[in-house]
Amino acid sequence: MANVVVVGAQWGDEGKGKIVDWLSERADVIARFQGGHNAGHTLVIDGKVYKLNALPSGVVRGGKLSVIGNGVVLDPWHLVSEIAKIREQGVTITPETLMIAENTPLIMPYHGELDRAREAQVAVGKIGTTGRGIGPCYEDKVGRRVIRVADLADQATLELRVDRALVHHNALRAGLGLEPVDRDALIAALNAIAGEILQYAAPVWKVMNELRRAGKRILFEGAQGSLLDIDFGTYPYVTSSNVIAGQAATGVGLGPNAIDFVLGIVKAYTTRVGEGPFPTELHDADGERLGTRGHEFGTVTGRKRRCGWFDAALVRQTCAISGINGIALTKLDVLDGFETIKICTGYMLDGQALDYLPTAADQQARCTPVYEEIEGWSESTEGARSWADLPGAAIKYVRRVEELIGCPVAMLSTSPERDDTILVTDPFED
Ligand code: GDP
Ligand code: IMO
Ligand code: MG
Repeated sequence: MANVVVVGAQWGDEGKGKIVDWLSERADVIARFQGGHNAGHTLVIDGKVYKLNALPSGVVRGGKLSVIGNGVVLDPWHLVSEIAKIREQGVTITPETLMIAENTPLIMPYHGELDRAREAQVAVGKIGTTGRGIGPCYEDKVGRRVIRVADLADQATLELRVDRALVHHNALRAGLGLEPVDRDALIAALNAIAGEILQYAAPVWKVMNELRRAGKRILFEGAQGSLLDIDFGTYPYVTSSNVIAGQAATGVGLGPNAIDFVLGIVKAYTTRVGEGPFPTELHDADGERLGTRGHEFGTVTGRKRRCGWFDAALVRQTCAISGINGIALTKLDVLDGFETIKICTGYMLDGQALDYLPTAADQQARCTPVYEEIEGWSESTEGARSWADLPGAAIKYVRRVEELIGCPVAMLSTSPERDDTILVTDPFED
């Protein structure tokens, strides 16, 4: 039995949700291990569109256990409204099918306010966050002043936790010109939502270890993408968690030996939302075309995603950092009709060739991409469900991507629809 970790191998929005939904048929448990409702996943099943933020992308299929692990930061009010919306679409969510780790940190309204207030300090340049309080909540977790799911169960503990958090936040808010937090109103709001959240609360580490011993198949669902990782991403233009595969174990309470296969989700070109370096970004008609054909608008904020050519140097780097065994190459259909397609194979920095993106911000900014040009194809790949449906030039493109990143393609995706997917190697059986 294999357990599979899915991680984004670029700057997010690679199509993780679609692939996790597809793979969930083969899994028993689908577990989120980091991030929060900054994630936005769109699933399309027989023309019906589902949008998820905090819920694991396995929920739609039904009959599977969905887990929100301790590595996640959870906005309880958002979760309750997300559950209500998805239920309206006919999806069943019960304490038997959804489990939330008791040690999961909770995002409070003051986290979102702080996130947005900081982003408004234009003098130091914004990150371009989703404004959902993700960074401030992770700060509080590490700062030992966060309120966790289990704290909702005991009034005295809850009040103690709130008071501890507010000593810090009210001082910060005064400096930013924000009103102090209304303590009693916050406690009342938490008490009002506590029951809704606690019905799903469980010692996830224990349940996951038991499931693993029982031979159940676990699918770990990463959010964001490796270049947004707090350590290995394009800092400070990153999210506030480790998003790479190593986080999957700590984010639910399993050992690293629970991971058998790491599947990197890779878009056939590159996109990024928010600020920060992006060597292959296009500001021309090709970039517009990628954005239009790929419908590149953020699910969470509606922002236009920046678009550019495939950067093999970056994906080679993220494959190494997450130990990616195989990739799912998505949105190949968006490249249909380009006469030629460019792939970045490395960079030039001050006259020197580099095969990776350096860490220093000034160097990242000065790196210029080295491209090779590949012949495009005029046929449509949209909806292709087997290699035989792909034009020769598209297969060549896929093979060249594999060569340059040093990692094989395990899956291919050719439209937003669940079943427009080609399985090359089953990650659960590999
Ligand atoms: P995630 O955050 O990684 O789950 O990705 P998003 O859902 O934010 O963004 C991916 C978008 O591309 C969604 O709108 C998907 O429906 C869509 N999508 C996924 N795979 C494909 C594909 O192979 N072709 C096309 N055209 N769209 C796809
Ligand atoms: P999915 O799971 C793309 C980006 C934001 C911003 C930076 C920090 O859908 O791939 P944050 O709110 O996390 O503090 O913002 O990270 N970002 C994402 N970009 N896809 C995502 O998630 C993202 N989650 C965060 O745009 O640049
Ligand atoms: Mg997304």
